[in-house]
Amino acid sequence: MADADNPTADDQRLWGGRFEEAPDALVQAYTSSIQVDLLLFRHDIAGSRAHARMLAAQGIIDADDAARILEGLDQVESEIESGGFEINHELEDIHTHVEARLGQIIGADAAGRLHTARSRNDQVALDTRMFVRDAIVQSVGAVRGLQASLIELAERSLDVYLPGYTHLQRAQPVLLAHHLLAYLEMLDRDADRLVDAFARADIMPLGSAALAGAAYPLDRQAVADELGFESLSRNSMDAVSSRDYIAEFLANAAICMVNVSRLCEDVILWSSAEFGLLQFGDAFTTGSSIMPQKRNPDIAELARGRSGKVLGHLTALLTTLKGLPLAYNRDLQEDKSGLFDTAETLIGTLHVLARALLTAQVDGDRARAMVDNDPFILATDYADYITRKGVPFREAHGVVGRLVRLCEQRGCGLADLSLDDLRSEHPAFESDAVGMTPQFALESRDVPGGTAPTQVRAALDEAKARLQLQPASQETQGQAGTPQADPTLETGLNRAQRRAAERAAAKQQGRR
Ligand code: ARG
Repeated sequence: MADADNPTADDQRLWGGRFEEAPDALVQAYTSSIQVDLLLFRHDIAGSRAHARMLAAQGIIDADDAARILEGLDQVESEIESGGFEINHELEDIHTHVEARLGQIIGADAAGRLHTARSRNDQVALDTRMFVRDAIVQSVGAVRGLQASLIELAERSLDVYLPGYTHLQRAQPVLLAHHLLAYLEMLDRDADRLVDAFARADIMPLGSAALAGAAYPLDRQAVADELGFESLSRNSMDAVSSRDYIAEFLANAAICMVNVSRLCEDVILWSSAEFGLLQFGDAFTTGSSIMPQKRNPDIAELARGRSGKVLGHLTALLTTLKGLPLAYNRDLQEDKSGLFDTAETLIGTLHVLARALLTAQVDGDRARAMVDNDPFILATDYADYITRKGVPFREAHGVVGRLVRLCEQRGCGLADLSLDDLRSEHPAFESDAVGMTPQFALESRDVPGGTAPTQVRAALDEAKARLQLQPASQETQGQAGTPQADPTLETGLNRAQRRAAERAAAKQQGRR
């Protein structure tokens, strides 16, 4: 006989009424997800609060039970927060743990009413949607933090130029700031993609119950309003079985991590003795256990490495979803570990790199010398020179190609050729073509998006104005290197607060 005030794990098992035998311990261990989904406890409890309030407002449960449920949920939450919460694999997942503990606190009778008109299927969909919303907000903030650090480093090194590469062969000089702003652009698109996906996560599934919708007069909008959701799911079967909003987050995270891993690869190359262009500060560098001289850019290497597992999480989820029949299937429980790891990896990676870049010391003299001492890095500029004098570019290319060969025979660079040398290949060369400088090459690329210093300065100013990032010197929340609030993103919570204020204002208006 179940004692309503002191339920045992047997009573608390969700389908105890149906079976004669308890599940085998192996089955319990295999099916349990509490170690993973404990992370959802805040979302789960917030969802339960909204559900309980709505059930009472609709007269589906009585107000006293609802009050007891709300009080009990507060206690469960603080127990989990303080780490004093007991985990029991017989109780499978976070949803059951919260309800079971609630039963111990307020009695099984009142606690047992919380699950009215609700299923774990719509509950888990609700929780993961809330998690994804939060993960997006934090990820975008972390992207903005890294962008702020790139801007800070770019501004610190505006006088630095270095070889730009194609095929990892020296191509043309570029400003280091221009190179860094390329990553700012990639991160901009990453943030855009994350923000764009927010709307598709921001849909409230509760009320779908197991799959067919709840058999009670629910006020789903009230739950959505309390939890700050933009809209209600329109189909109960879709609501409990779709995880494409998670796949989208994972895809956006994977693309972002791939972009970040390219930045890391550049930084790792620049940290090598061969390039010798950049050093992270001691606090963001690691040493070797055997070679005392080593300064290893492990942060960047780990970030590059972890991009691999984030790609894997996306592949794993899509593979899990592929071919699943409607509606809920237990396979869907496997969506969470990859989701949680992706969010943690992405946010943590962006954050640590943002901090590391702030400590980066650039060797500007060495960077400039790589250009200044390169015999042919301005070859395109010699071709552009006579092209501007009316020579077809294809012909100019051939002319400079022959000049390069002449230099190779003599063991010199293009800048060492005399006017006679230049004119021996084409009469369009004039005295101002002799000894062309990197500054000239940089300044001549004066198109929007080009590396001319005026263009790069304008691009930096534009990015700062658009992203509204605070300069690193300001000791505020919006410091470079720290995740920042994004102006383009209204979060579920912000929206709920704004809506509540709007409703209050509308009521006031009505009274007047
Ligand atoms: N732990 C489950 C999950 O994460 C919750 C839903 C369980 N539903 C069920 N019918 N067994 O997907």
